[in-house]
Amino acid sequence: MNVEALKEQAGIEACRFVESGMAVGLGTGSTVKYTILELGRRVREEGLNIVGVPTSLATAALAEEHGIPLVALDDVDGLDVVIDGTDEFDPAFHLIKGGGAALLREKIVAQSSKRMVVVADGTKEVKTLGAFPLPIEITPFASGTTVRALTDLLGCDVTVRQIEGQDVVTDNGNLIADAHAGATLNDPVAVEQAVLLVAGVVQVGLFTNMCDVVVMASPNGVTTLVKPS
Ligand code: A5P
Repeated sequence: MNVEALKEQAGIEACRFVESGMAVGLGTGSTVKYTILELGRRVREEGLNIVGVPTSLATAALAEEHGIPLVALDDVDGLDVVIDGTDEFDPAFHLIKGGGAALLREKIVAQSSKRMVVVADGTKEVKTLGAFPLPIEITPFASGTTVRALTDLLGCDVTVRQIEGQDVVTDNGNLIADAHAGATLNDPVAVEQAVLLVAGVVQVGLFTNMCDVVVMASPNGVTTLVKPS
């Protein structure tokens, strides 16, 4: 079974956490795309009554295209659930996110949600975070200074993300620095706090103590993993 099929299975299965009347955070990426498509189908065909808060401009466009009514986060009194993808998750359900450069809005939305459901294929499960380069959203102002500070702090290569020779610019007008730490982030809570102290850092793609449930699809089937207490 190919990875795309696994993403689709996980994305659709996570929709069982959504009921009529809910305000739902809509994540960003190639796995949660299938959640958005399925929620759109339920809105159109089954009368599912929800409002969505998108975590990126791309997700807003996809959700609108598929008929999910959208609202601003400021216009609701918190969210019942957010469903989002991840780049890695560890045994404590700490996450690395931001492979799609949407980490700032994703974290704001996750922090406003009563429950965070992550959708993933089995390749995202790791023992120790960090093999996936850690995305850090930084200001364009003095980005070189911030990258040097992060390099010193983390003791690894930190590179400004580019696509086809151009800096990636986030929906918020910032840049993404990727920290190539390797699978060494044994204390992600401490790393998250330390990175956030660097003045040019807007947000870091470590999501610690936020995820409650992982819906993971592997060739053996879809498993719903609940955060160990
Ligand atoms: C977006 O910035 C990311 O946090 C994504 O949620 C994450 O990269 C997972 O994306 P995929 O489901 O496409 O792997």
